[in-house]
Amino acid sequence: MIAPTLATAARLRRRLTGAPSPLAGRVVLVTGASSGIGEHTAYAAARAGARLLLVARRADELERVAEAVRGLGAEASTYTCDLTDGDAIDALVVQVLAEHGHVDHLVNNAGRSIRRSLAASADRFHDVERTMAINYFGPVRLTMGLLPAMRSQGFGHVVNVVSWGVQLKAPKFSAYLASKAAIDTWGRILAREARSDGVHVTNMRFGLVKTPMIAPTKEYENQRAMTAEQAGEQVRRVMEDLPPTWGHPVGYVGEAFGLLAPRITDAVMHRLHQKIPDAR
Ligand SMILES: NC(=O)c1ccc[n+]([C@@H]2O[C@H](COP(=O)([O-])OP(=O)(O)OC[C@H]3O[C@@H](n4cnc5c(N)ncnc54)[C@H](OP(=O)(O)O)[C@@H]3O)[C@@H](O)[C@H]2O)c1
Repeated sequence: MIAPTLATAARLRRRLTGAPSPLAGRVVLVTGASSGIGEHTAYAAARAGARLLLVARRADELERVAEAVRGLGAEASTYTCDLTDGDAIDALVVQVLAEHGHVDHLVNNAGRSIRRSLAASADRFHDVERTMAINYFGPVRLTMGLLPAMRSQGFGHVVNVVSWGVQLKAPKFSAYLASKAAIDTWGRILAREARSDGVHVTNMRFGLVKTPMIAPTKEYENQRAMTAEQAGEQVRRVMEDLPPTWGHPVGYVGEAFGLLAPRITDAVMHRLHQKIPDAR
């Protein structure tokens, strides 16, 4: 309760005095910056005066975002990297540290979602492997590469973009949500180990956000969702405030039900699972 109040007071003070955002001049690396939440995080951080390092696979889309960031008056560098390739991540770390010395805020945002029931997954173990590759092994490897420089400068912040699903444990998302729960837990333990080195970790448990990721799912068309712009602004806020977690109220309510009434929660989730068919 005290920390959010202090963060709000600090924001108000900045607004009244015209003081710059704590992000001004900081080096912010955003993965998955070519689209959706990552793209809009880059714009929000640029407006706060950060220096942006933009990472994804599609060079042309990254360059488009970098141009827009420069149009906002901020510096932007692009790095094409497939974050499922461990050697490519190691090379990215070497290049980023050579060019910038350190990263202040690392936003582990690149990811993929797979919506498929276990009944329809009998011959699809690769769904488990590819979600773990991009949503867990990639961010862990990148964070481990950048962590020593954060520790030695006495400040660092890792933002893991996860999902309310780690709290709700929604059927049909076993591969996706297990990979997000893995990075959520890994990040929390990192925060507990690296606290005295000034390293902070925020796990962001987003609800639905209107991005290309959810576009193919017809069931989401009429559901309430944040815009990618709102999501990017929220990432900017957590980079300023450094909370341990940020989440959607529905995620916390679902988590509480799961703890207080686990059998009823399983039954309700099973009904939902039966009502919503697998995508064809
Ligand atoms: N949209 C939602 O409702 C929602 C809700 C909760 C959490 N999230 C999470 O939010 C994050 C961003 O998703 P989004 O909704 O903004 O979707 P998006 O628009 O599809 O963006 C996904 C980003 O990840 C990058 N990416 C994917 N695979 C990659 C790889 N192997 N190497 C490097 N970059 C890769 C993509 O860039 P390239 O294709 O150029 O590589 C793209 O920039 C994801 O982690 C997602 O799980 C989304």
